[in-house]
Amino acid sequence: MTTVLDGNAVAADVRDGLRESIETLADAGARPGLATVLMSDDPASETYVSMKQRDCEEVGIDGSHVELAPDAPAEDLFDTVADLNADPAVHGILVQMPVPDHVDKRRVLRAIDPAKDVDGFHPENVGRMVAGDPRFKPCTPHGIQKLLAAADVETEGADAVVVGRSDIVGKPITNLLIQKAPLGNATTTVCHSRTRDLAAKTREADIVVAAAGVPELVTGDMLKEGATVIDVGVNRVEADTEKGYELVGDVEFESAKERAGVITPVPGGVGPMTRAMLLYNTVKAASERADVPIDLP
Ligand code: GUN
Repeated sequence: MTTVLDGNAVAADVRDGLRESIETLADAGARPGLATVLMSDDPASETYVSMKQRDCEEVGIDGSHVELAPDAPAEDLFDTVADLNADPAVHGILVQMPVPDHVDKRRVLRAIDPAKDVDGFHPENVGRMVAGDPRFKPCTPHGIQKLLAAADVETEGADAVVVGRSDIVGKPITNLLIQKAPLGNATTTVCHSRTRDLAAKTREADIVVAAAGVPELVTGDMLKEGATVIDVGVNRVEADTEKGYELVGDVEFESAKERAGVITPVPGGVGPMTRAMLLYNTVKAASERADVPIDLP
């Protein structure tokens, strides 16, 4: 029997676990605040940001949103970030990526106050995570760890294969899986577009994390029987639907489900967890800023 992991349910548990802490912080005069910044007219980015704002409202986090025209000067974005850094009601700042080509992405990541960097992308926070002293774990990798825990998947000593080497998912999940820490201690291989024989690697894996951004790259015949398969892909592919597209993951779900022991669906797997862990990081940021200790789920 294959377990199809319900990311919506696990994310709801995380949100429920945050509510009391949010009210504790609010009572202490530090209701958590998250500012999102969007400098794009990409429909997917617009959807992601509005879902993040909706999540804030649902749990009692003060959400605020700044939108900049994609052709606005880069300095407008840096000024916005500077204002949010200085605003005591804002505990977390998220600049939705990608930003337009004329904006230096690395400068954006460095501009955000590391104590408000709820994405965990600032070099200081990346460094802390790599050193085994994370302040904010990046949301998607952290969400993957929570999913593995919810399904009682043993990572210790497991052979894990991460497909994809992005800064947002591939690199940080690799790092978390190799940490000498709970939900780590895996023997982890990173595969990418130059990997010679991907299937030979994935077939050896107890855990496969597919995060390459390639629709249905990982098929059932590439998996070991009983493997845990975490699908991070969110690919819009043309389809004869009302919207003209459908979402597919980086895993061919039907064939993979035949071989996997545990698998995440798309949508409804990793995506909701990414959003839940953003709320988690925002609550953590507010707690640290206000110096009010709270329990985190
Ligand atoms: N674009 C795609 N994923 C993410 C994310 O996790 N954070 C931000 N800021 N932008 C993204």
